[in-house]
Amino acid sequence: MIKDRFDRTHNYLRISLTDNCNLRCFYCMPEEEYDFTPTSRLTQPDEIVTLAKIFVDEGVTKIRLTGGEPLVRKDAAKIILSLSQLPVELTLTTNATRLHDFIDVLKQANIQSVNISLDTLQPEKFLLITRRDLFHLVRSNIELLLHHGFKVKINCVVMKGFNDNDINDFIEWTMHNPVEVRFIEFMPFSGNRWTNNKVVSLHEILSIINQQYSFLPLQNDITDTSKHFMIPGHAGSFAVISTMSSPFCAGCNRMRLTADGKMKNCLFSKTETDLLTALRNDEDVVKLIHENIMMKEKELGGQFTVDEVDANEIDNRSMITIGG
Ligand code: 5AD
Ligand code: SF4
Repeated sequence: MIKDRFDRTHNYLRISLTDNCNLRCFYCMPEEEYDFTPTSRLTQPDEIVTLAKIFVDEGVTKIRLTGGEPLVRKDAAKIILSLSQLPVELTLTTNATRLHDFIDVLKQANIQSVNISLDTLQPEKFLLITRRDLFHLVRSNIELLLHHGFKVKINCVVMKGFNDNDINDFIEWTMHNPVEVRFIEFMPFSGNRWTNNKVVSLHEILSIINQQYSFLPLQNDITDTSKHFMIPGHAGSFAVISTMSSPFCAGCNRMRLTADGKMKNCLFSKTETDLLTALRNDEDVVKLIHENIMMKEKELGGQFTVDEVDANEIDNRSMITIGG
């Protein structure tokens, strides 16, 4: 078991396959020109599987593949199929633009549930956020997933004055579509122009929804990052990921492996452990994993609190290089 100083058991590993992406969401990319890591410097498929196995032997039961965009990596199918041989629940977070080429692979890998990043239901706004005109492709790929019986969760990062007026469009969408829309409070990462007044808090999100709909809270798990709600009569549901206004660190069970093979014990952790180099040098990776988790801070990587966030003081990667 991978336990930290606060007795939290870590059984969930998020593996970033690449820091490359075919979209350019402004809140995820650093401001300056960004060079993606060349494929040769990424953890190779056999190394990903070896590292994943080590984590599984230490108690990991769930693996999520993230990016950048995991499906832009040329050997994504190979990696997905190899990882599906492990005794874990395998899932992924994707921008959905390549999903039509992966339906068979996802089925073969016995993936049941897919998280999709989508911040608006308006094609013009999608283009403004992502700088790519791919809204209709994303929408049709979501339909494709639903058609094939996958469970679909939509990740929507809410930013004040930008897409907070899309919230109720998403809720309306859940009326006839069995999707779970997860509204995410905007978080500060290196270079993403975060300011406190762009955050739409859990409280604000609920009051916007309450203007048009009445909803009921659902039961949450201790390890849940989201607070779940249902609207009577709707096929789908919604949830709020309240990292900024009401963090859920007490039940955190997550660890991350970046595309260049570094372990992070928290989305906001300063410290990283280079597991890939250790693996290549035949060093004791298990020991490094446990040492890394013992450095895990109680909350928010020890970098800020709900009451005090100075985005300039936060020492971290940009979101695209962490993988969410
Ligand atoms: N704040 C909140 N969520 C973010 N994501 C990316 N950047 C941010 C941010 N600054 C989300 C993406 C994706 C998930 C992995 O993280 O939309 O769905
Ligand atoms: Fe876990 Fe860090 Fe996220 Fe808190 S901020 S839930 S500790 S990953």
